[in-house]
Amino acid sequence: MDFSSGFSYAPAPESSSHVKLQKQYELFIDGKWQKPVKGKYFDTVNPATEQVLARVAEATDEDVDKAVKAARKAYDTVWSKMPARERGKYIYRIARMIQERAREFSVIESMDGGKSIRESRDVDVPLAANHFFYYAGWADKLEYAFPGKKPEPLGVAGQIIPWNFPLLMAAWKIAPALATGNTVVLKPAETTSLTALKLAEIIQESGLPDGVVNIITGAGATGAAIVNHPDINKIAFTGSTGVGKRIQQSIAGTGKRLTLELGGKAANIIFEDAALDQAVEGIVNGIFFNQGHVCCAGSRLFVQEGVADKVIRKLKDRMETLIVGDPMDKNTDIGAINSAEQLKRIKEYLKIGVAEGAEMYQPSCAIPKKGYFCPPTLFFHTSQSHRIVQEEIFGPVLTIQTFRTVEEVIEKANNTPYGLSAGVWTDKGSKIFNMTTKLKAGVIWANTYNKFDPTSPFGGYKESGFGREGGLHGLSAYLKNS
Ligand code: NAI
Ligand code: MG
Repeated sequence: MDFSSGFSYAPAPESSSHVKLQKQYELFIDGKWQKPVKGKYFDTVNPATEQVLARVAEATDEDVDKAVKAARKAYDTVWSKMPARERGKYIYRIARMIQERAREFSVIESMDGGKSIRESRDVDVPLAANHFFYYAGWADKLEYAFPGKKPEPLGVAGQIIPWNFPLLMAAWKIAPALATGNTVVLKPAETTSLTALKLAEIIQESGLPDGVVNIITGAGATGAAIVNHPDINKIAFTGSTGVGKRIQQSIAGTGKRLTLELGGKAANIIFEDAALDQAVEGIVNGIFFNQGHVCCAGSRLFVQEGVADKVIRKLKDRMETLIVGDPMDKNTDIGAINSAEQLKRIKEYLKIGVAEGAEMYQPSCAIPKKGYFCPPTLFFHTSQSHRIVQEEIFGPVLTIQTFRTVEEVIEKANNTPYGLSAGVWTDKGSKIFNMTTKLKAGVIWANTYNKFDPTSPFGGYKESGFGREGGLHGLSAYLKNS
């Protein structure tokens, strides 16, 4: 098919004129904005324009200590004593305030992190509000969630989150912690601090007692200071497997509780009997959603041999229609890569793939000259031993393999150090159940992909980490006796 001669969309940019950003952000500790003790700051940039959006405080050990002390005091004196029903009201209020300011949050999320406005508007921000709503409802019903168990909070939770879903990950972490009666010190990732800081504004306006949620910014050293602080009861981390392993080592023997949500290399499996057009949409959504910066991305495609040519032809046609570019444009499908470092990492993997003998394919789409962009990419003729098949790339890069039998594809799909997610496309319910019991992955989607809901637990096997977020499981990660 030839798409080049067809019509093209006129620009449909979302306005950022209603968004107010400060030049400089301080640390949100004990309900107040506090300057970092050492006076250090770093820039956060818009990856689509490479322009600096704001300066953000860099928290050092001293600031982390202040934040943990504030969280401990709030836990001991207010939050652990408050009736659960009252706790729930604050969480509802935060959910509503996110909804009220949804447009502002979406715009800032896209500006700071590069994701398309359509995704931040339709996925990240509404889901973040939903997480607060959902856990608000549980706050006074914990004894029903865990009958006969007298669940109790752990105390102070240190929470470290990544840059791919900044506000949503803050919601995943904060909402269940508050609902279960814990207090929080949260650190967003260094390239995407702004929506967490905006959330701090909401938390302040909501009247949540001082110190219940503290939001401090910084990079790896700040995260490590949280992990190693002696008065933290629980660490919840989402990020790379390398850092997750380091965290696990450093808290071994301390009695701190830990949940780790790490990387993935999910198999997305298309059987001959699947609805192929629908499956092609699922492949696109599986790997190109959020520029492929998704821990559960369907980054390894397995197509049954009999339909492989057809699926690949349809996939290539579909990719010709993908629009890569300005994240603020409502037509954009694939926005900017989150940072210069991540783009470099992705480009290294493109080179590795070619050097390993795989065949690289990219559609003819134009990409902007300025900013960090990467076209959607396929790799053919890949095998299990290729690094591009084994390692998480965290970009819009899909490896493609074929298979003949169910046994073969299960073996290939499970032949990975990771085990976070998988996708199965088939017309047969029995085949779905067979696959879901044999695939070693925490989440398995059938005839859909990348669907998230606060009621549904999420988490991995093997090097994808342990512990579950979402649903009842997400509550028990913040409770004793559950
Ligand atoms: P990262 O794991 O270094 O960053 C995640 C968070 O951990 C950030 O808030 C960071 O400041 C913090 N952090 C870094 N070092 C720390 C330490 N020693 N102790 C405590 N906290 C620490 O991930 P990075 O370097 O940004 O990305 C590298 C690769 O990791 C990506 O290419 C991707 O493959 C993977 N990744 C996976 C994510 C997932 O959701 N599974 C999220 C982010 C990255
Ligand atoms: Mg940024």
